[in-house]
Amino acid sequence: MQPHWLIVGCGDTGSRVARNVLDSGGQVLALVRSSASRDQLRQQSIPAHAIDLDEQGPPAGRFTHVLYAAPPPREGDDDPRLARCLTAVTAVDRFIYISTTGVYGDCNGEWVNEERRPAPQTGRAGRRVAAETRVQGSGLPWNILRAPGIYGPGRIPIERLRDGAPVLSDAQSPWTNRIHVADLAQAVLAVAARAPADRVYNVSDGQPTPMAAQYRELAALLGEAPPPEISWAEAQERWSEMRLSFLRDSRRVSSDRLRQDTGWSPEFSTLRDGLKDCLRQAAVR
Ligand SMILES: NC(=O)c1ccc[n+]([C@@H]2O[C@H](COP(=O)([O-])OP(=O)(O)OC[C@H]3O[C@@H](n4cnc5c(N)ncnc54)[C@H](OP(=O)(O)O)[C@@H]3O)[C@@H](O)[C@H]2O)c1
Repeated sequence: MQPHWLIVGCGDTGSRVARNVLDSGGQVLALVRSSASRDQLRQQSIPAHAIDLDEQGPPAGRFTHVLYAAPPPREGDDDPRLARCLTAVTAVDRFIYISTTGVYGDCNGEWVNEERRPAPQTGRAGRRVAAETRVQGSGLPWNILRAPGIYGPGRIPIERLRDGAPVLSDAQSPWTNRIHVADLAQAVLAVAARAPADRVYNVSDGQPTPMAAQYRELAALLGEAPPPEISWAEAQERWSEMRLSFLRDSRRVSSDRLRQDTGWSPEFSTLRDGLKDCLRQAAVR
């Protein structure tokens, strides 16, 4: 049987997976919330429906794979969107859920692998843990992919840099981790093809840095001045609670398990290579 993927939340990551599945002869049904996103997918010949998971579940169908890449709601302590989807999907070869490394909470800068117990410290991370628990208890064969900051074409801080926005000084910065969206999509495909079911995977490029590194690297590539640096005390006065909450967590994320189980390795293993790709793609658009 040809693979038939249901991609729930077919945004940046999902559409890359969709194109790969279609190019390999498989079928895809993509779900998004808005008609604008649906139309964009259809323009790329990706079959798509607009469905608001806050109101209804996905349509019935026989799918070999489900990729669930929609975020939980912004409030509450659970993920009713995912719950609706899990009720509708009764049989599937693999249910792949994209979660976040935020579930680990603050790890004092230590290296973190999947053996570490989640310790969410925000409502946002708590909802992710609730979602992961639902996936693990679904009775379906599952994998959970925990992603750190996702970057890619159109999602790097060029404007912020040009506006002279400050960054935290290295001395006061947490470790931050990233994955290029193309590498995350390849990880989804590698997991679907080769990973044992019922296993969690971190998906990171393995190159943690202080927060400012991305801005400095980008500045160097663009020929701009490096960003001004501020202390944690100044950041607390200037930045939103949401932004600060990301910076309270410090950890270095290992993806050794994913590499060992599937042979996956990131194409963009350094920030410099990944940023160059983003700028190259921006130039050809
Ligand atoms: N941003 C990060 O750095 C980061 C880090 C770790 C994990 N993640 C998570 O990883 C996953 C994949 O990320 P991504 O960047 O590929 O996501 P993305 O491009 O933002 O796509 C999210 C998709 O979910 C859909 N969606 C949102 N709410 C929905 C609803 N109520 N009903 C139906 N569809 C809904 C959106 O549809 P519309 O386009 O129509 O709104 C969109 O297609 C997401 O869950 C994201 O939260 C993100």
